[in-house]
Amino acid sequence: MLFSSPTADSSNAPLPDGAPLPPIEVHDLTVAYGRKPVLWDIDLEFNEGELVGVVGPNGAGKSTLIKAMLDLVPSASGWVRIYGEPYAARRKQVGYVPQRESVDWDFPVNARDVVLMGMYGRLGWFRRPSRKDHHTADECLEKVEMSAYGDRQISQLSGGQQQRVFLARALAQDARIYVMDEPFAGVDAATEASIVRVLRDLRAEGKTVVAVHHDLQTVEEYFDSLVLLNLRVVANGPTSEVFTRDNLLATYGGRLTILDRAAEAVRRGGGPRIDRP
Ligand SMILES: Nc1ncnc2c1ncn2[C@@H]1O[C@H](COP(=O)(O)OP(=O)(O)O)[C@@H](O)[C@H]1O
Ligand SMILES: [Mg+2]
Repeated sequence: MLFSSPTADSSNAPLPDGAPLPPIEVHDLTVAYGRKPVLWDIDLEFNEGELVGVVGPNGAGKSTLIKAMLDLVPSASGWVRIYGEPYAARRKQVGYVPQRESVDWDFPVNARDVVLMGMYGRLGWFRRPSRKDHHTADECLEKVEMSAYGDRQISQLSGGQQQRVFLARALAQDARIYVMDEPFAGVDAATEASIVRVLRDLRAEGKTVVAVHHDLQTVEEYFDSLVLLNLRVVANGPTSEVFTRDNLLATYGGRLTILDRAAEAVRRGGGPRIDRP
């Protein structure tokens, strides 16, 4: 399978008009693989219309947190609510951009098909995409500056182009919440700039974006609020309050000097990624 889509369900509870429900609420969440807990007692609440960064070292549980929000991993205790309902009732409101490595890029489809597949949750599995659907798919490819590549097999795209196609796929879903796992990992500067523009456009439309991020140098520039994660939530709140050296030290367990150097190396081009020393 190309990538297990969480959108293939017809359930879609109506959103209450103007209700002050948080887009995502996580309560007492604990997740374990086998007997080893990897998320412990997580409490979070996100604000609508914000870009939220999830930051922490490799193995901190960032991807697991994203997957728990999307019911892709079972929780040992606690719950997640999307606008006050379980994910299953809100799945069409949530667009997911998975970590690029988790996708089978040899799957024989072109870029436009990948985007159309993102719309199946809305179209229903058995309806053929209409002209209008194709038009929407092309519009979404245009938003990520990939118009010229609609007919290209995804295996023949660069890493940055693949990432943009998957962003277009999520955009085609026309969700209210977007959840992305390391959207900037391994992409070139042009792709990063293009993705940042799309995220800001989403915010301007009042949508909520939660993105796992590994580059401490751009955290303040990109995100309105942060979750600093390492098994537990170390800190959560507005970036201006939470992004402090003490909080980062607590999150990264005192390895920040190494991280500072790694971050500097990444800024200069090349060098190790922050959470993959
Ligand atoms: N499917 C899995 N089975 C067992 N252990 C896993 C699985 N996925 C992740 N883990 C472990 O859970 C921890 C958190 O992983 P992950 O959520 O991927 O962290 P991050 O995304 O922050 O790097 C790590 O120790 C990882 O090895
Ligand atoms: Mg991860």
